[in-house]
Amino acid sequence: MGKVTLSVIKADIGGYVGHSSMHPALMDEAKEELAKAKERGIIKDYRVLHCGDDLELIMTHTKGEDNPDIHKTAWDIFTACTEIAKKMGLYGAGQDILSEAFSGNVKGMGPGVAEMEIEVRPSEPVIVFMADKTSPGAWNFILYKIFADPFNTAGLVIDPKLHSGFKFEVLDVYEHKKIVFDTPEEIYDMLVLIGAMEHYIIKRVFRKDGEIAAVSSTQKLSMMAGRYVGKDDPVLIVRTQSGFPAVGEVLEPFANPHLVAGWMRGSHHGPLMPVGFGQANPARFDGPPRVIAAGLQITQDGMLVGPRDMFDDPSFDEARRMANVIANYMRAHGPFEPHRLGLAEMEYTTLPQVMEKLKDRFVPEE
Ligand code: 13P
Ligand code: 13P
Ligand code: MG
Ligand code: MG
Repeated sequence: MGKVTLSVIKADIGGYVGHSSMHPALMDEAKEELAKAKERGIIKDYRVLHCGDDLELIMTHTKGEDNPDIHKTAWDIFTACTEIAKKMGLYGAGQDILSEAFSGNVKGMGPGVAEMEIEVRPSEPVIVFMADKTSPGAWNFILYKIFADPFNTAGLVIDPKLHSGFKFEVLDVYEHKKIVFDTPEEIYDMLVLIGAMEHYIIKRVFRKDGEIAAVSSTQKLSMMAGRYVGKDDPVLIVRTQSGFPAVGEVLEPFANPHLVAGWMRGSHHGPLMPVGFGQANPARFDGPPRVIAAGLQITQDGMLVGPRDMFDDPSFDEARRMANVIANYMRAHGPFEPHRLGLAEMEYTTLPQVMEKLKDRFVPEE
């Protein structure tokens, strides 16, 4: 068996109720269509999940990354689900479908994409993380901890296969440029950039021998549409075990619910709360931001075994409790930074209109 591609393609095509969750009818439609695609041999296997109001399509196939058939399959599902969402009057139907016409690739058209083509190992455990009410920068802290922090990942110290470190591909989403850092050699330089998680986003992580270890979705939806249309709730694929960090090392950073951008109206900082599939329905102030983790084994012939609901575990209860405490504290700030995002991130909200209205009332200070 040759290579298998794991493609995770997601979109918000209508929320139930408001932006809080996903109506089962949309998931049923997606499952039905993916079953047909599997029958027709377009894909090998699939799973359908949701995180909040985002529909998550997990697919395996042998067509490689950026394949038009795969992207069209996802696009057609999103447009079909949008029609159902419109009929049902679901909220923000077609929110992430920014264009009527499909051009061969869903990138830049609204949906989020993370794909990796791999030579499947005899046992290939992967974790697909899916978040709602946040943006791809949310993974920076997580990926740094998993692949570069020896206090998180014991394997960096004690596993000979991890000991030489990893390579991080970092995107400048404003300048549309990328740079690759070697870790641990260049962690201080890299942290200067990736600490600014709305500007520099980790796209991929590689082992030093070039083997892909992780890939994130990096669409900046608000910027693509030229106006605010919702946060680009991101996904992340991470390979685990034998030559990669262990499953538990990959989950470990989520025990500390770090602050991410998103939450209410995509305009607030809040803690990223790890939850089981059944609790991925952000309610309080449309949040706090959520992340689910689907553990999957990929077989040699590209079939999916799973998912296991990795955060459905009491060992993450304390993280959830801590996230609620942090949520209380952050909420108390109301419209004040750093709960509300800084001005640069507010550009696609009312800020320009308010500035336009007030501009003649600004007079020199002296
Ligand atoms: P096992 O001995 O259960 O395979 O675990 C090894 C490991 O890497 C745990 O993180
Ligand atoms: P979504 O990006 O999940 O649609 O949320 C948008 C929003 O405004 C939440 O308050
Ligand atoms: Mg929505
Ligand atoms: Mg969403």
